[in-house]
Amino acid sequence: MNDRPLKLFHLSDIHFGLEDRSALAWVERCIEREKPDALAITGDLTMRARHREFDAACAWIQGLDLPVTVEVGNHDIPYANLYQRFFDPYRRFNRIEHLVEAELGLPRLAVIPLKTTTRAQWQRFPWSNGWVTKKALEETLAAIDAQPEGTRILIAAHHPLTERREHDNKLLTINGTRTMEALAGRKVAAILSGHIHDPFDLVAETKAGPLRMIGAGTLSQRIRSTPPSFNEIVIEGEDIRVTARNLEDVASRDMMICDVPENALPPRDPEEPVAPVGRVPEVDPPVS
Ligand SMILES: [Fe+2]
Ligand SMILES: [Fe+2]
Repeated sequence: MNDRPLKLFHLSDIHFGLEDRSALAWVERCIEREKPDALAITGDLTMRARHREFDAACAWIQGLDLPVTVEVGNHDIPYANLYQRFFDPYRRFNRIEHLVEAELGLPRLAVIPLKTTTRAQWQRFPWSNGWVTKKALEETLAAIDAQPEGTRILIAAHHPLTERREHDNKLLTINGTRTMEALAGRKVAAILSGHIHDPFDLVAETKAGPLRMIGAGTLSQRIRSTPPSFNEIVIEGEDIRVTARNLEDVASRDMMICDVPENALPPRDPEEPVAPVGRVPEVDPPVS
């Protein structure tokens, strides 16, 4: 099929409140210069879902001149206001609420949301890790099934879907395995995610076949093992090319981790994956 190539910028974990201003200014320049077809932001727009953080996030996103779709991250649900957390968790997106899980209108390509962020998890506390509820998976599968034949499907989620960490079997995303099988069975082209603050481009084997998992790094000061970055994704026919772009011109392959860790905290345990560039901060960045 003779489609023109599409270029997406995949951003994640900007964490307004602790954003990296120079990295964001560079992203703005890249968008202006290269005019990508669309922007997908896979969550954690803010640090603590504070009003002033959302105001800054909304102003920045509204200043961009291209189609944008936004996923909700675990940091984007109010912590302190429990009433809002449970009954109106997305209210603070106000001015960009129409961009949350928005359709991008691209030719023969759909970016379909999958909710992995929950208001509460009865199995565990804290509630920062992912959980794909039955309802969330059903909604995503229905949206996939509603696409015209021949549409290439990308899924956008905040958390990677890996259910258990390899070296110690620790539970990461609840129902991740079942979800990955269902998505591989639907032949989705890739799942885009954030939350980890390091980029990756991996293929997971599931009972229903392989599933490509693409993670974007962070544009905040909360570094894990790579400098601030975003993913450029070029889709040409069935081919998808991912480049982890960064201000420091580190080669994309040196930015990528080879396994999915539990979270975005800098790796202190030798079992945890570290990107070849090895930019692990000596002191943990602030978390609030
Ligand atoms: Fe994050
Ligand atoms: Fe997160």
